[in-house]
Amino acid sequence: MKKIAVFTSGGDSPGMNACVRAVVRTAIFKGLEVYGIYRGYEGMIEGDIRRMQSYSVSNIVQRGGTILKSARSQEFRTPEGRKKAYENLKEFGIEGVVAIGGDGTFTGAKIFFEEYGIPTVGCPGTIDNDLYGTDYTIGFDTAVNTALEAIDKIRDTAAAHDRIFFIEVMGRDAGFIAVESGIGGGAEFVMVPETKTDLNQVVKSLKNPRKSKSSSIIVVAEGDDEGNAEVIMQKVKEKVNNKNKDFKVTTLGHIQRGGNPTARDRVLASRCGMAAVEGLLSGHQFHMAGVVNQEIRYTPFADCIGKTKPLNPDHLKLIDILNI
Ligand code: F6P
Repeated sequence: MKKIAVFTSGGDSPGMNACVRAVVRTAIFKGLEVYGIYRGYEGMIEGDIRRMQSYSVSNIVQRGGTILKSARSQEFRTPEGRKKAYENLKEFGIEGVVAIGGDGTFTGAKIFFEEYGIPTVGCPGTIDNDLYGTDYTIGFDTAVNTALEAIDKIRDTAAAHDRIFFIEVMGRDAGFIAVESGIGGGAEFVMVPETKTDLNQVVKSLKNPRKSKSSSIIVVAEGDDEGNAEVIMQKVKEKVNNKNKDFKVTTLGHIQRGGNPTARDRVLASRCGMAAVEGLLSGHQFHMAGVVNQEIRYTPFADCIGKTKPLNPDHLKLIDILNI
């Protein structure tokens, strides 16, 4: 293998740049030519592919976002789109690819690279932490810390006004951000898509004069089965039916996707980037390079996207115990 390419795809996450840097520099260290594909699968289809040198990735290890840009490509879902992408890779003589992204990215990679046989190794880049085959994903730690900072600030004003705040964090299908920011931020309740939400428990607690605190923080993952934070707040408010209680909603949204990556994310990203290039060279054709129990582990794409990474039950227990 002499020429490889790297791209970032799907929702960006802090640390993607550190990962691109590690891929580019490891490739050069190993004597390979390396190319950057811009805007994920969109750029692959359009042929937006550029040679990268060591200096192309200078001064990016600390930056959020992705210098290669990202996209969610509809055209790549079609066989015609994937054919165009293949022709572009062929024209550039690309023999191996590193894909940095989440489950959508790996689903596309699995179909495409099995169709056309170009070896691909993935790096887990998503704030959601919902990929099987790695303890943490690149960007998760930064996103949790961003959410935590916001929760701390909201707690100040919530306490000052004796208000009940529902804080919505990202996570359409996964509650990892909600759980960790909820524990760290001392939330009374955390609502996640993985478990059935019992609003009556929240209502009971808010109505119980002995248990009721003057202010409360409830963290809601955007994909909770009872709805988003606004919907849940309205349902709870109606059931509590107490004019003296003041309910508020804050949706943190895309603020969680940006910012300088934490040390943990930069180290994880750098390790996975290096491992991805080494994986390509050692024949791990359709795998993701993740870190499990401190060690690099290569997991087949089929498992990364097919198996569910469960929330840690100890974390859920902790929230219940600490909210007494
Ligand atoms: O997958 C990462 C993520 O940030 C999810 O948490 C969120 O639901 C989604 O992306 C938002 O996607 P978009 O930025 O395309 O609206």
